[in-house]
Amino acid sequence: MSTATALAHPNIALIKYWGNRDDALRIPSNGSISMNLDGLSTRTTVSFQPSLPFDELIINGREVTGKGLERVSDILDLVRAQAGIKDKAEVISENNFPSGAGIASSAAAFAALALASSHAAGWTPSEEQLSRLARRGSGSACRSIPAGFVEWRAGTCDEDSFAVSIAPPEHWDLADCIAIVHAGHKKTGSTEGHHIAGTSPLQSARVADAPRRLDICREAILRRDFDALAHIIELDSDMMHAVMQTSNPPLLYWQAATVEIFHAVRDWRASGLAVAYTVDAGPNVHVICPREVQKEMEHRLREIPGVQDVLLAKVGGATRMNG
Ligand code: DP6
Repeated sequence: MSTATALAHPNIALIKYWGNRDDALRIPSNGSISMNLDGLSTRTTVSFQPSLPFDELIINGREVTGKGLERVSDILDLVRAQAGIKDKAEVISENNFPSGAGIASSAAAFAALALASSHAAGWTPSEEQLSRLARRGSGSACRSIPAGFVEWRAGTCDEDSFAVSIAPPEHWDLADCIAIVHAGHKKTGSTEGHHIAGTSPLQSARVADAPRRLDICREAILRRDFDALAHIIELDSDMMHAVMQTSNPPLLYWQAATVEIFHAVRDWRASGLAVAYTVDAGPNVHVICPREVQKEMEHRLREIPGVQDVLLAKVGGATRMNG
């Protein structure tokens, strides 16, 4: 029996991934940029055992079967092929953030799975190989592999579609205040959303303009220019949601409180505060700010009607082995 444990953080996309050129391989239609979220993490232990008849998956103490298990087994199959082994595996995963809080857990989950399973199988992939492997489980997971601020270069095939760090966590002391306005599970998940992105007449314009937004965002990060960052991440989030809302079927993830927070964040910024919003495939709002104003932002967000909780994160490191 051979066992390994890995720890990964989720990430928040500053320039979003929405739509694939190849759904099966998760080759995205456009590149994306994110930051890892320290304070939130998934810890996964994988052990390959000759006696197991099937792969087994336990998440937060509950056995998972069906589609969830299949998605994990597909990654384990890629690892078994690389390592030249046939044993089935037991996968035990725990999130330290409330499950069902509406925080996408698949990025951290597949990043931790990729690292733990490859090491348990006796294969030591490079960071690039690991990012490609995590991408196969969930596209955004490839961005949780490298440290800090990360860019996923879209590429055109399995070999050239992976994420790299563009700046370490200590480069810029930013924070994320995640305003939870609805904690239930969403009706349409990202995988299905990527499939229908192309049905929106706005998607081609969004994808065509992506290199420009990526350049502005990357530069803003490298120069630590919060104002430039604020404008480009809000534009990018709004463009993705415009595509979602105009796809067939249309996807409307926002709640009334989501929009309340947009107004508040814009007012706060107009009054001189460094703060910006971005939203993934759900109603909860990620409020990005320098860490020195994080407490103030948390306090203000908690006063908005409809905000049920606020989770706090700073910029996180790479996916790593964990005893
Ligand atoms: C809106 O990576 O969750 O969060 O590859 O199907 O698992 P799958 O999709 P996923 O999509 C993320 C969509 C997003 C934007 C982003 O994180 O870039």
